Amino acid sequence: MAPSTLSIIILSSFLLFSLSNAQTKPQAFTFPIKKDATTKQYYTTIQVGSNSTTLDTVVDLGGKFLYFYSDEYLNAASSYRPILCGTRQCEIANGVGCIFCFLKPPQPGCTNNTCSDYALNPFSGTQGYSGLGQDVLRVRSTRGALYPLNNFPFQFSDPVLREELAGPAAGLIGLGRTRVSLQAQLASAFKIREKFALCLPSSAGSDGNLIIGDTAYVSPFEEISKNSFFTTPLVKNPVSTDMNEVIGNFTAEYFIDVKSIKVGSKTLSLNKTLLSINKKDGSGGTSIRTVRPYTGLSRSIYRALVNEFVKAAASQNIKRVAAVAPFGACFDSKTVTTSKTGPNVPIIDFVLQNKDVYWRFYGASSMVLVSADVICLAFVEGQINLTGPTTSIVVGGYQLENHLLEFDVKSSKLSFSPSLLLINTSCSKFGAS
Ligand SMILES: *[C@@H]1O[C@H](CO)[C@@H](O)[C@H](O)[C@H]1NC(C)=O
Ligand SMILES: *[C@@H]1O[C@H](CO)[C@@H](O)[C@H](O)[C@H]1NC(C)=O
Ligand SMILES: *[C@@H]1O[C@H](CO)[C@@H](O)[C@H](O)[C@H]1NC(C)=O
Ligand SMILES: *[C@@H]1O[C@H](CO)[C@@H](O)[C@H](O)[C@H]1NC(C)=O
Ligand SMILES: *[C@@H]1O[C@H](CO)[C@@H](O)[C@H](O)[C@H]1NC(C)=O
Ligand SMILES: *[C@@H]1O[C@H](CO)[C@@H](O)[C@H](O)[C@H]1NC(C)=O
Repeated sequence: MAPSTLSIIILSSFLLFSLSNAQTKPQAFTFPIKKDATTKQYYTTIQVGSNSTTLDTVVDLGGKFLYFYSDEYLNAASSYRPILCGTRQCEIANGVGCIFCFLKPPQPGCTNNTCSDYALNPFSGTQGYSGLGQDVLRVRSTRGALYPLNNFPFQFSDPVLREELAGPAAGLIGLGRTRVSLQAQLASAFKIREKFALCLPSSAGSDGNLIIGDTAYVSPFEEISKNSFFTTPLVKNPVSTDMNEVIGNFTAEYFIDVKSIKVGSKTLSLNKTLLSINKKDGSGGTSIRTVRPYTGLSRSIYRALVNEFVKAAASQNIKRVAAVAPFGACFDSKTVTTSKTGPNVPIIDFVLQNKDVYWRFYGASSMVLVSADVICLAFVEGQINLTGPTTSIVVGGYQLENHLLEFDVKSSKLSFSPSLLLINTSCSKFGAS
């Protein structure tokens, strides 16, 4: 090798080394999660635009993208840019149409020749169709520094889409399987793995956390993720569950493959057809949703669960009392002892790909206190479908709380911890180390 070649190699590797040192790029970002006591919705705070308007947005695990309405942003929206029809950003956003809207001067929500899409309010079922735009989002790395996430796509929506959102919320932020969800945008902008860890708080007084990217967690969460995680494939539902996708086939929601349900050691006798996804119409299967307060089950599954649970509770001398809507099975809490995992009631398992992979709900996750002496089984009969095909099991927020969930979107896997209460911790302690 000629000496000059050698020195070039040395020089260039030195350059690479110093460059990577100079720009220690962030590996993960943190978004504290609050619970709204009234609506039981989970929300996070974001900063958007050149004036860093601060907005609360409800977290929707299956949401496609960010949408919001805010007068404050409107008055300071100097850095807002529409996503124009036919552009690469429009293709990434999977927009379904083009809007021509004329205002002088143009303003967010009314710009000409603009890539547009439907946004769904998952609480009211209202859909809004309007133009997409982009602006800078300020995001905090797990090391504490703020970074600009430029050209973040979102919809500046009609205020009607704020109806039924938690009091302070201006909109909703999506973590779904799209290329315009929060984690997808962070992953592509900062070249980090498309992966996030979600730990939902169980009370309005203590924050949980969403960590996007790859990082070590604080103790004992790092140990839990190494030693106690259960891992199951994330399944794709080939049919959109919100009926709006003209382009593209897959729903943005996360599905897992629940194979059976147990109460104690007893396996419920269920119609297996309901447990799997019907590839033709997208019905059936099990999704995970932060925008449902309690796990909803389709009628036959719900009845089988309530019947078996009531039977098993009776054999533990737990006294049943009149039901309190929307719950179907309630009990006298004075007849139930408690432990660190909550009321000592029969355990419910959602069994996944094999008998060793199961999601176990102890009393703290399966029972809700409705009055001084009454606790109820915190599962409900699946709500009438607001839109789209009917999913048989929708795992809701109450059951997700105080479990650490890691969505590895890149490799399409969900890892989840057993109840954190087993080791005397909770989501309010979750963070990066
Ligand atoms: C932007 O923020 C600054 C400081 O908070 C404020 O003084 C200014 O009025 C804001 N600009 C607009 C257009 O709202
Ligand atoms: C709106 O955009 C279309 C397509 O680019 C263009 O033909 C039209 O002249 C524009 N209208 C106005 C009022 O700017
Ligand atoms: C939708 O599904 C059909 C049939 O499986 C497939 O041929 C087509 O490429 C899919 N379209 C997109 C955009 O994924
Ligand atoms: C099982 O569920 C499927 C889908 O709803 C239904 O078509 C079928 O009739 C059910 N089978 C039984 C035995 O109830
Ligand atoms: C549920 O969704 C289906 C489409 O898959 C629709 O035909 C049906 O009317 C919906 N049911 C209700 C009660 O909205
Ligand atoms: C659990 O935590 C509480 C308060 O955080 C503490 O008082 C208690 O001693 C802990 N119990 C165990 C077994 O670590």
